[in-house]
Amino acid sequence: MSKNIRKYIIMRLLTGIQPSGDLHIGNYFGSIKQMVEAQKSGETLAFIANYHAMSSGNGGEKLANLTMQTATDFLSLGIDPQKSTFWVQSDVKEVLELYWILSSFTPMGLLERAHSYKDKIAKGINANHSLFSYPVLMAADILLFSPDIVPVGKDQIQHVEIARDIAIKFNNEYGDILKVPEFKIQEDVATVPGTDGQKMSKSYGNTVNIFGEEKKQLKIIKKIVTENVAMEEPKEFEGCNVYNMAKLFLDKNELVSLQNRYLSGGEGHGHFKLYLAEVMWTYFNEYRVKREYYINNQDEVRDILSNGAKKASLIALEKIEKIRTVTGIRY
Ligand code: ADP
Ligand code: TRP
Repeated sequence: MSKNIRKYIIMRLLTGIQPSGDLHIGNYFGSIKQMVEAQKSGETLAFIANYHAMSSGNGGEKLANLTMQTATDFLSLGIDPQKSTFWVQSDVKEVLELYWILSSFTPMGLLERAHSYKDKIAKGINANHSLFSYPVLMAADILLFSPDIVPVGKDQIQHVEIARDIAIKFNNEYGDILKVPEFKIQEDVATVPGTDGQKMSKSYGNTVNIFGEEKKQLKIIKKIVTENVAMEEPKEFEGCNVYNMAKLFLDKNELVSLQNRYLSGGEGHGHFKLYLAEVMWTYFNEYRVKREYYINNQDEVRDILSNGAKKASLIALEKIEKIRTVTGIRY
């Protein structure tokens, strides 16, 4: 295959990860697993969005720790530094320069219409400038690296659209410099339910974490809300929160056999919860081992991030040089 054809086929994917706390199985099946799989076929760029985390009030030692924790967890779960470029946002400072430059191509109205900002204001959260200008930084994150695709959850679509608007405005002034990004909605990904049956989310306090302690995890799983049906009665698996979580971890045969256990009666939801705890523990076993390794070798994690930042900088520098020239910042 000629070099040009290869270049054409390989897609560059870019994603940002907020360092916001313990990862849960919703994060894993809704996002991390896809990122890991994308490494097989495309060029993946992933960074820990630590500047972004500041806009929701994280800072100080907590932010530093969360950054390392998130990096450790993503590496443990399969981000492969040989295949992906993986770095911390603040280690490639050109993003801040581009953020400022793009601000001049961002109408106030565009930011005033951003749902994430409007929602927070509606909840009475005091807005600061970083919350307001968050989409401009996100546009810089994207446009600096010219990805073909930005895989996002539904809540982030508008932010990518803002990045597109900004890129088009910039290009209208200075020519075809910025690649207008496409987003890919993760439609095929079902929403993972939390222990109360709502969408699993840190903000609802209904999460089952990936790397919890075994006893604690079992305690949380035991809290999953289920129907009240007598032990000997057959039970509905469709719509059962325990079943919906368990099916994420099971292959086809295991799933059918669990369905049969529901239908034949004689077992309570408590039994299914114990089974869920067991399959989940087994599923993440290899990742826990890897995590233990990285926790004991944090210098290796730092080296991986620093090499990732060097790789990302090469792309960023090439782009920012062009931008500096066309905008007249280089004189
Ligand atoms: P949280 O709601 O716990 O704060 P985030 O907003 O940080 O989670 O989510 C990070 C990623 O995980 C996003 O891509 C999001 O779409 C995905 N995700 C989070 N919760 C779920 C869920 N319950 N089901 C599927 N995907 C989820
Ligand atoms: N805003 C995204 C979130 O909250 C994180 C993010 C920051 C991002 N910069 C990005 C995602 C660039 C994709 C591309 O989840």
